[in-house]
Amino acid sequence: MRRRYTAADLGVFTREEASRFVPRGDGDPQNDVVLAWELLYRLEPELYDRLASVERLHPGVIGWLPRDVDRIAEVGAGTGRLTMELAERGRHVVAVEPARPLRRILRRKLTAAGHGDRVRVIRGFFDQLPLRDDAAGLVVACSAFTPSAGHGGEAGLAEMERVCRPGGCVAIIWPNHLDWLAARGYRHVSFPGPMSVEFGSHEEAVELAEIFYPKAAGEIRRRGWRKVPFEALGINPPRDLAFKVLAG
Ligand SMILES: C[S@@+](CC[C@H](N)C(=O)[O-])C[C@H]1O[C@@H](n2cnc3c(N)ncnc32)[C@H](O)[C@@H]1O
Repeated sequence: MRRRYTAADLGVFTREEASRFVPRGDGDPQNDVVLAWELLYRLEPELYDRLASVERLHPGVIGWLPRDVDRIAEVGAGTGRLTMELAERGRHVVAVEPARPLRRILRRKLTAAGHGDRVRVIRGFFDQLPLRDDAAGLVVACSAFTPSAGHGGEAGLAEMERVCRPGGCVAIIWPNHLDWLAARGYRHVSFPGPMSVEFGSHEEAVELAEIFYPKAAGEIRRRGWRKVPFEALGINPPRDLAFKVLAG
């Protein structure tokens, strides 16, 4: 990923995106992997979708989410790893996603699954959600929120809580800074058990690992793996969430 894009690719960002992802106007995706991921979403969204489709959430995470929620808001919905699940349980779901190419894929998937009418896909950012106060009973982000200002931060968390109704739940799935969230009143839940990424074929496992998990690619090739344990990829499995129930 670090070698995939160059500073010349930064022109793909809209002004709003650049103000968050390259606030000083310069940036080098070869030295900033977070920036490289933002370029991936815009330049090769189908490649990103192939990865997200095989990195499945722990079923316990899906099962934990409240079922009887009328309105759900998801932020940083991407190509719908979680949205497709939420579509099954909320009567009204709004999926906020800044990257236009990801929104396009998400809409395509929702339509194909017959959820096109119930799930609204809109542009927006954590720190400026285009939603009214108390808009949803569940406000959730999956593998998207971080404490950094460009990807949520204090302003982003405050926005998620603003759009969550009293007594509702804000949930951060697959969080990367549990201590930061705990300091802001978020409780942690983790679901145990072995977890793997199940690629479509061994060839796909090697191809995607060379791009996204280069340190693991050799072992995957040697062992002929199609199903790769998260530990071998060197990343935390998507088994955790942090949540806060707002005062009613
Ligand atoms: C790793 S992807 C996860 C996507 C999806 N939630 C999933 O689990 O597959 C991170 C997502 O966060 C979105 N994102 C990045 N910065 C954001 C921001 N400031 N506000 C809202 N979403 C953001 C990206 O566009 C991308 O869709």
